[in-house]
Order: sequence, then C-alpha cells, then structure tokens
Amino acid sequence: MGACLRRTKERSCAKRSCAKRSCAKPWLAACTAFALVNMTAVKAQEADQQQAARGKYLVAVIGCGDCHTAGYFFGRPDTAHALGGSDVGFEIPQLGVFVAPNLTSDAQTGLGDWTNEQIIAALQTGKRPDGRELAPIMPWRDLASLSREDAMAIAVYLKTLPPIKNKVPGPFGAGIRPTVPVMKIVAP
Ligand code: HEC
Repeated sequence: MGACLRRTKERSCAKRSCAKRSCAKPWLAACTAFALVNMTAVKAQEADQQQAARGKYLVAVIGCGDCHTAGYFFGRPDTAHALGGSDVGFEIPQLGVFVAPNLTSDAQTGLGDWTNEQIIAALQTGKRPDGRELAPIMPWRDLASLSREDAMAIAVYLKTLPPIKNKVPGPFGAGIRPTVPVMKIVAP
C-alpha cells in the first residue's frame, strides 16, 4: 500500500500540467482496490492454514496415524512416512483382512485424486468412491458425528500431506491368505 501511494504521488507530480490533487484520485482508487484484493487473498490463505491446522489436530487426537502408519503396531511408527499406509492388516471374521491405506496426497496410491467431498463421505458414511463400504474397523460410524467443519478440516489437512508412494496390499477376501502380518480375534 505504501509503495502504491508513493507511485501515485510520483505519477501525479510528474505531470506538470496536472497540479490539481484530483488527478491522483483514479490512481488512488486503483491502488486501494488492489490493496483490498491483496488483503482478501491473505485472509483466505490464513483461513486455509487455520483449517489445515485444525485438521492436523483432529487427526492427531483421533489417532488416525495409529492404524494408517507403518510400524505403529510393532511399537516403532515410521514417522517419516506418517499416514502413508499400514503394514499390518485387521482380520474381520467372515469379511476378510483390511490394511489401513495410504492417506497422503499421492495420486495413484493415496488420496491425491479424491475430492474433499469423497474423503468426507468415506470418513462419515464409510463409502469409497467406487461404492465399496469400508470395513467397520475403520471407525467411520464414530466419525459420522464429526461436525461438517471438522470433517472438512480433516480432508483439507490430508490433502496437504506430501505424497508418499505406497500401495497397501489387499483387501483380502475371507479365506484368502494375506501377504501382511494380521491382527485377529482369537477364540479362547
Ligand atoms: C482402528 C484403525 C483405524 C483408525 C483409528 C482409522 N482408520 Fe481409516 N481405515 C482403517 C482401515 C483398516 C481402512 C481400510 C478399510 C477397508 O479397506 O475396508 C481404513 C480406510 C480409510 C479410508 C479410505 C481410504 C481408501 O483408500 O479406501 C480413509 C479416507 C480413512 N481410513 C481415513 C481415516 C482418518 C482420517 C482417520 C482418523 C480420523 C482414520 N482413518 C482412522 C483403519 C483405521
């Protein structure tokens, strides 16, 4: 804004014939409009950052990384690849074995190609874009009670995660031998 005003002065003073103050007015108006547009852009950027920060907080306290980060179930979470997909499957009786997938922004193996709405639908209704319902070990029935703002904040945050290329194996249908270690319910 300061630079803008300076330029307005220089311009209006450069023209000798134009000693009147009114000459600067169109420039002043243009500069003010420019500054306002800039301020709006900065505000929007700040709002995006706040939304992503809220998403980061929610993902941390809900513990998404426990299931979606490799090494976690061995007591050594691979923090360099946080949320890049698990290396352990959950066996759900009669359903099969499910490995928590890569939630980073990689387009082929993560959520990079998903829209925010598709992520929210998966979180809150268990519906993947291909129509398959997520296994109940993914706590989407609980996440259904997230507010719309919080669900959106999580989606926005996940999209900011640097892409990690990692396609988790599975899902393995009931009776199919999984290629990963499995957590299962064992009857006594
Ligand atoms: C108890 C373990 C667990 C927790 C906690 C968990 N998830 Fe999951 N999640 C899974 C599993 C397992 C799957 C795969 C289920 C399937 O394929 O049917 C999954 C699937 C997903 C999917 C679908 C991805 C895809 O490619 O199909 C998304 C999105 C997701 N989880 C996001 C989250 C977020 C965000 C959180 C935290 C708010 C979270 N999950 C917490 C286990 C978990």
